[in-house]
Amino acid sequence: MFDVEERLTLDERSAVDFVLGLRKRWADTVYPALRDEYGATGEPATTVADAGQVLRGLPLYPWFSHLERVQQKMLWKIAGDAVLSRREELAEQLATLPEQPAGSLGLDPALELPDWYTDYDIHIQPGSFFSDDMSAYVYEFGARIVMLRDNDGYKFHTLFAQTALPQLPAATRVVDIGCGFGKSTRPLVGRYPTAQVIGVDLAAPGLRLAHAEAEAAGLAIDYRQADGRATGIEAGSCDVVTGTMVLHEMPADAIRETIEEAARLLKPGGSLRFLEFMLTGDPLRDATIQEHAERNNEPFFHDLFGSDLVAVCTGAGLTDVSWTPFDERRNGLQPRGWGDRAEWHFPWAVLAATKPEA
Ligand SMILES: C[S@@+](CC[C@H](N)C(=O)[O-])C[C@H]1O[C@@H](n2cnc3c(N)ncnc32)[C@H](O)[C@@H]1O
Repeated sequence: MFDVEERLTLDERSAVDFVLGLRKRWADTVYPALRDEYGATGEPATTVADAGQVLRGLPLYPWFSHLERVQQKMLWKIAGDAVLSRREELAEQLATLPEQPAGSLGLDPALELPDWYTDYDIHIQPGSFFSDDMSAYVYEFGARIVMLRDNDGYKFHTLFAQTALPQLPAATRVVDIGCGFGKSTRPLVGRYPTAQVIGVDLAAPGLRLAHAEAEAAGLAIDYRQADGRATGIEAGSCDVVTGTMVLHEMPADAIRETIEEAARLLKPGGSLRFLEFMLTGDPLRDATIQEHAERNNEPFFHDLFGSDLVAVCTGAGLTDVSWTPFDERRNGLQPRGWGDRAEWHFPWAVLAATKPEA
């Protein structure tokens, strides 16, 4: 398969590099400078709300907040134009599958997408991720820049698979809930070579791209269109149920129902692992994360942060529940915390739990 990025014109390449540079500058330089201004006020806040109030009075704040939103909008415009101008080639590529596929694609045209899913252009991506086949290509391209190129070659997701998921040489089935275009699912094949790997998502466009890419790479993955709250997969059949960056896109009830579904799917002794965002405990950093949710059209961050997922897991019958920070720049899972990262970063953390033996 060809990658849109391999075929960019010089103008397109310059535009991509510009927005990537802007994003890096915002995270690596503007945020630390904002922090310095905050420190110089001599008013260290103890709550996120108080930190937010001080933050909004800082001279750099208008630049910080404007750059955060504007670079995201630029990103989608550049990625969208690059993809849509190659629509025919890309549609043909999506439809080109091997005669003997290694995996499968099960779409469900009757699946009703929940209103909370279709009502928002999540991440400000125009039309979101479900509306058109090209939206998956746009999202794939845009996500590389959002991840500051730290996920090229699925590096971030491979780190998650290697450092946060248990080693199980005889696993028979693992499921990735909210698999998108498959960047979280593909590393599971290497991690669990004996297992059936299943990716579940609401969005048909993402699943079509995930399937085409897996087949092109010769990876046996079964992709299914379903709601993570009711996957239709047999109860007690999975060694690991995972999901990356999906819970924060759902309202609180749906987060709880997804965890309950994951618990239902697990075999006794099986492991749940969700990579998500979590507040860091640093009031200024957490105030900027709450604001990121507003500026990036992420309406359910608040539901995630307001949910006690340890209690939800326990209520679903799981044990050994914990949150552990995850740092993509420092080799994955970080049992001792995020450390002293100076730049603005997504506060990744892994929710882990176990289904007790019967
Ligand atoms: C930010 S993307 C993450 C995709 C992938 N896991 C990754 O790490 O790149 C979130 C994905 O979750 C999917 N999603 C959101 N709510 C879902 C639900 N209730 N059931 C299944 N998928 C869902 C979206 O369609 C989207 O593909």
